[in-house]
Amino acid sequence: MTLSSLTPRPLIAGNWKMNGLAEALDQARAVAAALDARPAAARVAICPPATLLHRLSETLEGSSVLTGGQDCHAKASGAHTGDIAASMLIDAGARLVILGHSERREDHGETSALVAAKVETALAAGLEPIICVGESLAQREAGAALEVVTAQVRESLPASLAGQAFSVAYEPIWAIGTGRTATVADIEEMHAAIRAQLVLIFGEAGKAPPILYGGSVKPDNAVEILRAAEVGGALVGGASLKAADFLAIIAAA
Ligand code: 13P
Repeated sequence: MTLSSLTPRPLIAGNWKMNGLAEALDQARAVAAALDARPAAARVAICPPATLLHRLSETLEGSSVLTGGQDCHAKASGAHTGDIAASMLIDAGARLVILGHSERREDHGETSALVAAKVETALAAGLEPIICVGESLAQREAGAALEVVTAQVRESLPASLAGQAFSVAYEPIWAIGTGRTATVADIEEMHAAIRAQLVLIFGEAGKAPPILYGGSVKPDNAVEILRAAEVGGALVGGASLKAADFLAIIAAA
């Protein structure tokens, strides 16, 4: 099998985080309508808050835009008040799920071992995981960024991902929601290290999963970032909330 046949389309995923009431569906509708008129080179997904997921999936039915969850529980079902099972995301129309976002790791104390357990559960339900990794500013300033992120990749990706569709998102914590982005050189260095780790874990198949960049991706920096070596797409926070901005990023892929 040649490498090009292993290389999937880039993925541009919007992470709405804890934003979005019913009226936000209009933004998603506008994205879908624009992409129907002019199909994107990239696969496109929107990951809304759980309360909107089913409505968003219905709104986007028949369009090219996929939907995803922002988290799921490590257990398939049971007594876990307030949590969401992977099968519930599927039931609400999701195809993908973001796991191990730094906001989950920080706000909810999620460890890489827990993230790996969630990935297993998501795969078993039929979801395509987007597994997030990224260092803090203190870790970068201490020169530990590569070590921290490659350890997160090793520990957050279970062996059962072999042969499955998934992506890894590199999101330096200090670049999230700050307007600061990593330099292209920093992104390429980290993505190369993540790729090497994927090949160590999965062999030749580790060359296929897209490695997304996330952290203040905007229309005005998207071309430069998406052109960088080993950048297979973007995980977009703030700029995914407005159709025009999200579409400009999608067009850059
Ligand atoms: P921003 O694009 O708002 O910086 O968020 C990035 C992010 O965390 C996506 O998951």
